Amino acid sequence: MTAVVRRATAADAGILVSINRDVQALHAAALPTWFKPPSPSQFPPEMVAALVVDPNTFLFVGEVESLAAGYALAKVIKQAETPWRFGHSMVFIDQIGVRDAYRRRGVGRALVDAVRSAARDVGISRVALDVWAFNASGQAFFQACGFEPYRHHLWIG
Ligand SMILES: CC(C)(COP(=O)(O)OP(=O)(O)OC[C@H]1O[C@@H](n2cnc3c(N)ncnc32)[C@H](O)[C@@H]1OP(=O)(O)O)[C@@H](O)C(=O)NCCC(=O)NCCS
Repeated sequence: MTAVVRRATAADAGILVSINRDVQALHAAALPTWFKPPSPSQFPPEMVAALVVDPNTFLFVGEVESLAAGYALAKVIKQAETPWRFGHSMVFIDQIGVRDAYRRRGVGRALVDAVRSAARDVGISRVALDVWAFNASGQAFFQACGFEPYRHHLWIG
């Protein structure tokens, strides 16, 4: 069973809400004062319609045997040079999630590969993301995909 990745379409809003439910629930359980609980309002159809036509957004659906199993949402970020650092471009993975029932079958890795390939297609080699400190399995997954830590976020209070 190989994962197949395709671009999302405006018709995928319901699929995205349903897959995002697991991702959102994980985050809301760990940080309930930061993350909202899962809700259909998190991928309204008009938002998905706008994302799929945005040239600076990559929205992919991963399928197993033609059934939607995961998704990835990534954005092109271009930052101008400042007096302190050089300008740079990167593609930032904002969200990635695979339904519980389809995990450890290569869907997540196929989604990361699709984002990296889409980034290369627009001339960007660097792909980056945040993963929360509580999310040990997410960290293990990204490490397995070749990502390396490059920055630490700290907070108090
Ligand atoms: C993280 C996530 C996207 C991984 O998706 P997946 O389809 O299960 O990942 P893959 O099957 O492609 O895994 C690729 C490799 O990553 C590593 N990996 C994946 N999940 C792992 C876990 N829970 N623990 C340890 N290593 C893991 C393994 O090395 C795996 O290869 P293997 O199965 O051959 O050992 C999925 O677990 C998920 O949706 N988690 C909840 C949401 C989340 O944490 N998103 C990321 C932060 S926003």
